[in-house]
Formats: sequence, C-alpha cells, structure tokens
Amino acid sequence: MAGGEEPLLAQRPSSELSNEDNLAEEDALLNNEVRRQPEKRGWGKWREGAIFIWALLATAAVIILAVVYQHESSKKEVTPSPDGKRNLIFMVSDGMGPTSLSMTRSFRQYSEGLPYSNKLVIDQHMIGQSRTRSSSSLVTDSAAGATAFSCGMKSYNGAISVLPDHSPCGTVLEAAKKAGYMTGLVVTTRITDATPACFAAHVNMRSEEDRIAEQLMGEYPLGVVVDLILGGGRCHFLPNGTEGSCRADDKDIVGLAKDKGFHYVDDRAGFDKLKLGDAVSFPLLGLFAAGDIPYEVDRRNENDIYPSLHEMAQTAMAALSAATANNDKGFFLMIEGSRIDHAGHANDPLAQVHEVLEYDKTFASVLEFLEKDSTQGVMVSTSDHETGGLAVARQLSPEYPEYNWFPSVLANGSQSAERLAANYHAHLVTHPKDDMTAYIEKSLEKGLGIYDYEMKEVDLLVDEPAIAAYTFADIVSRRAQTGWSTHGHSAADVNIYASSPKGASPLIGNHENTEVGNFLRDYLDLDLGPVTKELQEKGALFDTTDAKGEKVGWMGRLPDNDERLDGQDHLEHYSGEHKKHKRHAGGCGCASEL
Ligand SMILES: *[C@@H]1O[C@H](CO)[C@@H](O)[C@H](O)[C@H]1NC(C)=O
Ligand SMILES: *[C@@H]1O[C@H](CO)[C@@H](O)[C@H](O)[C@H]1NC(C)=O
Ligand SMILES: [Zn+2]
Repeated sequence: MAGGEEPLLAQRPSSELSNEDNLAEEDALLNNEVRRQPEKRGWGKWREGAIFIWALLATAAVIILAVVYQHESSKKEVTPSPDGKRNLIFMVSDGMGPTSLSMTRSFRQYSEGLPYSNKLVIDQHMIGQSRTRSSSSLVTDSAAGATAFSCGMKSYNGAISVLPDHSPCGTVLEAAKKAGYMTGLVVTTRITDATPACFAAHVNMRSEEDRIAEQLMGEYPLGVVVDLILGGGRCHFLPNGTEGSCRADDKDIVGLAKDKGFHYVDDRAGFDKLKLGDAVSFPLLGLFAAGDIPYEVDRRNENDIYPSLHEMAQTAMAALSAATANNDKGFFLMIEGSRIDHAGHANDPLAQVHEVLEYDKTFASVLEFLEKDSTQGVMVSTSDHETGGLAVARQLSPEYPEYNWFPSVLANGSQSAERLAANYHAHLVTHPKDDMTAYIEKSLEKGLGIYDYEMKEVDLLVDEPAIAAYTFADIVSRRAQTGWSTHGHSAADVNIYASSPKGASPLIGNHENTEVGNFLRDYLDLDLGPVTKELQEKGALFDTTDAKGEKVGWMGRLPDNDERLDGQDHLEHYSGEHKKHKRHAGGCGCASEL
C-alpha cells in the first residue's frame, strides 16, 4: 500500500468531551442502543390484563388490515397490459454505493454554491435496495452481479451468463430480441467487459474478452441479438498485428461485423454523423476507444475525441424509439456508467464524483426521454455492487477523529490519478535520465490543485512509478478525508432507482439482485426458459477454437483456481486469511481493475 496507513487508534481522550449528556448520546449511538426512559410502575394487575387483551385485539386488527391492503395493492400494481407496447431502459451504475451519492451531492453543492437541500436528480427517484452477494462469495464481482440482472440467477464471480454448473442461461436481452423488441447496449468501458457482456454473451471466464467480442457480433448459437452498441473496447475487434489491437488471434471482428451488415463508427466524427440518433442505421457498432473511454474528468477536455455517456445514451434512445415507431414491440436498452467502479478501484474520489455527475446527467436525460416518448416505458437504475468500501470520513491521526470531510480538495483538481500516472509514465519514457521531482510537483499542482504536498509524498512518486496512480489518488483522498477500505468490491447493499415507483413497484424495498433481473423479465413479459434451451441445444453443436487454434467449447475454458476472484471454494468460512495475506504485506497489493 502506498504511503503506509497510520494506526487507527480510536481511543478518545476523556478531556475532549466534557458534556455528560453528549457522551451518553454518542455511546448509545456507537453501541447501537436506544436510550430508554425509566419505566413507570404501580399499575394494577387487572389493568395489565385489560391492556394485554386490548393489545391482542389491536394486533389482530392490524394483521387483517395489512392482509386486505396487500391484496388490494397487489391488484393495483401497474404491470402494463400484456399486449401493450413498452420500452425498458435498464441503467447500471457499476460500483456505486450509497456513499458515492453522499460524496457527489456534497461535492456539487460545494462547487456550485448550492444549498444543502439541493439533491441530485437520481436522489429524487430512490425506491429500494439490492443485496448483491454471488453464489461463490459474499462479495460479488461485476460478472456475477450482471448475471443476476440478465438471467435473474446467482452465479459465481467471473461468470458471464453461465450458471455454477457452467451451463448457459438465457438473458433478458436475448429473450427480448426473440420476442420482437429491438435491443441496445451503451457503456463507457469496453463493450466486452463484464456488465454489457452478460446481456449478449456466455463465457465461463470474464477475461475472455476476445471471445465476447465475437459473440456480440453474432458468432454464437443465437446469432446477432444486439441492434445497437456504443462504447469502448475497439482493440478486441481488431486482428493481432494491426494497429490498436489487443486480440490474441488474427480474427478481424470489425470485418466480420461489416459482413453481417453492421454500420461501424470508431471516432467522434463518425459519432457526430449519427446526429444524436436522427441518422442511425441498424445494426450499429460504435467503438470510440481502444479500451475504456476516459474518465469524465479527463474526457471533458477531449470532447473532440470521445463522446460522453449522456450523448451516447441520447443517441441510443432516439434511434431505438424511431426504429420501433411502427413496431408492435418497443426496445430494451442497457446503459452503464461503467467507470464509477474504476474510480472506486483506483480509490480516486476526484475521478468518481465526475463519473457520478455524468451518470446523474444521463439519468435525467432518460427521464426526459420517457416523459416525451409516446410509448409507455420504465427506467430502473441500480448498481451491481459497491466498490472501494468508500467512507466520507477518514481518521488520519491517533487522536479522536474530526467529524468532517472536504469537498474543496476535489473541486481543486482537474485530472484523474489514472491520467496523471499515465502522463508520468510517458514522460519517464521520453526523459529516462531526468530527475522527476520537478515534474511530479507540477503534476500535483496543475493536475490536482494540491500545493501543500510533502517531500515524502513526492519521493514516493519519484521512487515508485509503478504505483503512481494509487499514490496520486491517496494524496487526494487524505486531504479530502475520504476513506477507502479496499481496492476491490464490498458487500454493501446498493440503491435501486426508478423513473416512477409505480412502474417498478415490485422493486420497492430491499431485494436480492436476482429480483431486479426478474423484474426486467416480467416488465417485458418474457420467458427466458426457451432461450436457455436453445442455447444449450445449438451450443452442443457449436465448436470453436482458442487463440492457439485448439478446439474448445463455445463458452471457453473453465477458470483455474488462481483465476478466481473469490479466493477458493469456501464461502463464509474464515481459514486463516489474515495470516496468509500478511506474507504479502511488503508488496504493493495492486489489484487489477475488475
Ligand atoms: C499477438 O501475437 C503475438 C505473436 O503471436 C503474441 O506474442 C502477442 O501476445 C499477441 N497479442 C496479444 C494481445 O495476445
Ligand atoms: C486550491 O488551489 C489554490 C490555487 O489555485 C490554492 O491556493 C489552494 O490552497 C488550493 N486549495 C486546496 C484545498 O488545496
Ligand atoms: Zn461492477
């Protein structure tokens, strides 16, 4: 870990708080106890009996009323009539927990001078919460998380719409396509990354992104099922040996897509020609970055190179709406704010607030679309999990902690830690002999707006360029007093939002993530069973090769134990992890971004 954490001794000096009442109040809160008033005594026995009977009757009445009410309200649930045309927009804020919202809300209030009553758009649409565990761990990854949404079933970390027995499960998007809906996927990460992949691909390991690219272009048992794709990940579509490729083999997936009739755009000029949806031809493949589209905080300075999430979403909604105008069926569109998660993995609060603000802007544009569109529709938005174990508070010294965090630090910066580190690495290549101190100081001042850096921070950046991204992010986090408990995911419940609580009433309250998937299925009136069956039957006849040209099942290899994200095959059982991990304490602990 960069810097080395200070010990977190929460000993409270007794002199610091003298007010007895406050102390008691706080202890009650900390110990999760309710402070009770002393009970009154001296009631007669007969009176107790009467109260008991009264309580019994009242309870019975409440139960009867509750049953009657529930019966009534279930009749009133707004499930659209089975033959009614409808659109469904499913938004995923990857890695966004409730604390990301608190942080972003306060950041916006601070940077725009708004009152504390000012909310984000998304805040006004919260209807429930989702519990996120996977079949293999209490802490899910995005693959198992998205499989819960796409198939409505729990699977293991790393699974792209395959079940724990490694059989494929039919997805909402596939079933929607078969039922006559048009379909779309819009993301800011690679389109081959776990969340989008789970809707229209099936592989045993999420790392098989080359294979996912082929499947998205119809090279799998169901053929082409996605009508519109906008996002990053171009390098997985270009043959090895050509510029900008990251494929292991020499298959030309862009060529394949064109052969199948896809219209292909790969830059800002091509995106602009789509006229925000007015000039889209289907099917459409738009890949605007070799890998991920840059974080919004960096992208907004490169607006002539990359489109934003809300522009891509608007394009998709307008185009799908127009293309289905005369159809019996509407469309299913998944929109992902993919890189909220990456900012969490990077522990970079500055990058994250801008990702969340862009997601909020996109959320607002979806609401506007639904309001104006003549077809009935619903938008549901949730996260697959929380990332980073974010806390908007951080104890930096052994003394009793301050109750505060500082959005002004985030407001001073204009670049992500990822971008600063990438620039630094590029500078090292072009200036291998230089002392980097002056360069680093300029990065901190110009990129992060931080002037009170310490020499030990600068030295760490100079001496350990490999962990520069983490160090830059940590320098910001410490000053803002934002805390992170991991560079990975956490098991926190995440919020569920909807365009209207009525339209998504089955998701009101606290739910398992699979219930979100079931809602998507039910709203579109789909049956996933036949799709699963078709995948299995046609899949049995479907052989493919791996990068070395060796024959392999169409869903690819099974994960080895060391390729699993959930440790090994034990669930809740602790078996000495603390000791095992201590051995690595000297390393940087750099998690890859998953
Ligand atoms: C591209 O092919 C070369 C030569 O076979 C190989 O060394 C390289 O690893 C391949 N690239 C990727 C991304 O797998
Ligand atoms: C923000 O930047 C200004 C200079 O532009 C600097 O004086 C100030 O100290 C910075 N604020 C924070 C919170 O770092
Ligand atoms: Zn995720």
